[in-house]
Amino acid sequence: MKLCLSRTWRTLSARSNHKRILSTAAKSTKVSNTQRETFLERVTTGPGLQDFINVKHVPRVNAIPDPTTIVPYINPDTYAGQGRRVFFEVYGCQMNTNDTEVVWAVLQENGYNRTSDVQEADVIMLVTCAIREGAEQKIWNRLKHLNAMKSKRPARRPLQITLLGCMAERLKERLLEREQCVDVIAGPDSYKDLPRLLAVSRHYEQATINVLLSLDETYADVMPVRLNVESPTAFVSIMRGCDNLCTYCIVPFTRGRERSRPVTSIVNEVLALRDKGVKEVTLLGQNVNSYRDITVSNSNDKVTSNIAPGFSTIYKPKIGGVPFATLLCTVAEAVPEIRIRFTSPHPKDFSEDVLRVIRDYPNVCKSLHLPAQSGNDAVLARMRRGYTRDAYLRLVDTIRSYVPNVGLSSDFICGFCGETEEEFDDTITLIEEVRYNVAFLFAYSMRERTTAHRKYVDDVPEAAKIERLQRMVKAFRHTATALQKEYEGRDELILLEGKSKRSSESWFGRNEANIKVIVPATALPTSKNSAETKEIAAGDFIVAKITESNSQVLKGTPLYISTISDFYNK
Ligand code: 5AD
Ligand code: SF4
Repeated sequence: MKLCLSRTWRTLSARSNHKRILSTAAKSTKVSNTQRETFLERVTTGPGLQDFINVKHVPRVNAIPDPTTIVPYINPDTYAGQGRRVFFEVYGCQMNTNDTEVVWAVLQENGYNRTSDVQEADVIMLVTCAIREGAEQKIWNRLKHLNAMKSKRPARRPLQITLLGCMAERLKERLLEREQCVDVIAGPDSYKDLPRLLAVSRHYEQATINVLLSLDETYADVMPVRLNVESPTAFVSIMRGCDNLCTYCIVPFTRGRERSRPVTSIVNEVLALRDKGVKEVTLLGQNVNSYRDITVSNSNDKVTSNIAPGFSTIYKPKIGGVPFATLLCTVAEAVPEIRIRFTSPHPKDFSEDVLRVIRDYPNVCKSLHLPAQSGNDAVLARMRRGYTRDAYLRLVDTIRSYVPNVGLSSDFICGFCGETEEEFDDTITLIEEVRYNVAFLFAYSMRERTTAHRKYVDDVPEAAKIERLQRMVKAFRHTATALQKEYEGRDELILLEGKSKRSSESWFGRNEANIKVIVPATALPTSKNSAETKEIAAGDFIVAKITESNSQVLKGTPLYISTISDFYNK
């Protein structure tokens, strides 16, 4: 269940509540409990032999000859899409949107076309999310629909259904057993293999699967092709995977180990986006601020860790290479006319170097996502977040001392295993104390393979989770309303993104803190003191005086068109 500002949706999970106990390993006095647990997790939940076999034989009605009697060789020439049309359906986070752009680049290169009409597609690709049960349920429902669609297709126009992303990684061949319509399954590290998987599946009329996780795939050699070329904003992936192993989270198991993309490949992509007219780039990753480009040996940089004071991590400190703060200022300097954001960071990795870059570069947005998850120390420890409430609050103070008007956002989970009413109250007081501009609020959803699934009991009743979620919403709205009111009367720099959904007479954009701002469509002076005017449009930076606010949006009077440097040199 996720709530982003006013949006709430959930699927109640009917999970068994029995306690899972981590199996014990032979005792070793040299191995700490944390190390042993992490090792066991990797062994018990990592890929098995089956996951290293790319082409799987799943019996189908029209089964091909026994794969052991044929050589499954396909001439690479036949990997070509020959103009086949692909329809993408993207679920989940921004990482999935960015991954889809990588997939599209790979397929386009191999002779596929894209369609926005599902009925005319030859290949339907679902880019899936597994973070909560509700996200997966959506896909199961969709597959039923697609199954019906596929069976109605005439033989001369077959439809291939492809499942990509985290759910593919999590469920692997279980998907093929349950949903007979799926032809190709590819995990987050196998997208370059898609032309082959699609070709093999077509050739043998058999399902193919590659869910091998990689230790080094960053798609640094693939220039993503944007799906929405009209948009002035774009995402650039800087790292993949996550080593944090928060106990509730499936991501380390679906996206694998953390690895960073080389700085040069990131900068090249950002420059290419600038040349295409993009005005805002969001650097993406599961844990962006633990970024470390180890392909570059930086003799001046013997940084062993980014860890902020009062925080801890379960993995070994990183040594050498280029850290996130250096990447951020390199990108900021490469494209001073473009806004830079990043998501999602972990509070433990906010070194003061990163805060100095945010403070010193006008094009690095003064807004930070600081996922707290809970405000209670015992819950944070069970979640294995690596900080206490106090350390988190001290970090907020440090951030606000560097960047006084910073916009803060956060993720919170209520109803985690064993969470009492008193423990939950600490989450409410944290929301009230910090005051966030944006919050993503979730009810806990137990995921198989996670540490919580093995060690804890999902024992907070669903009704209590809903009630706590509503209390978080209320607390967030109350504080956000007051916080947003502080914008009234201020001149804000807004990047216009598109026409408002409610009225074609209005534009919407975002201020630096990433808050949506609505302004009327109009002609404006092309700079602060210019006599020349032009109709405002998507991609323009404009200055607007904020006149109205609520917990989710601001409204403003547009004043003039500007640039980042003109606005900050005013
Ligand atoms: N249940 C509910 N929310 C979760 N998140 C991650 N795993 C779960 C889960 N099992 C939330 C966290 C994370 C965000 C992306 O999703 O708040 O920061
Ligand atoms: Fe999941 Fe924690 Fe990694 Fe975020 S930092 S992706 S919540 S394990």
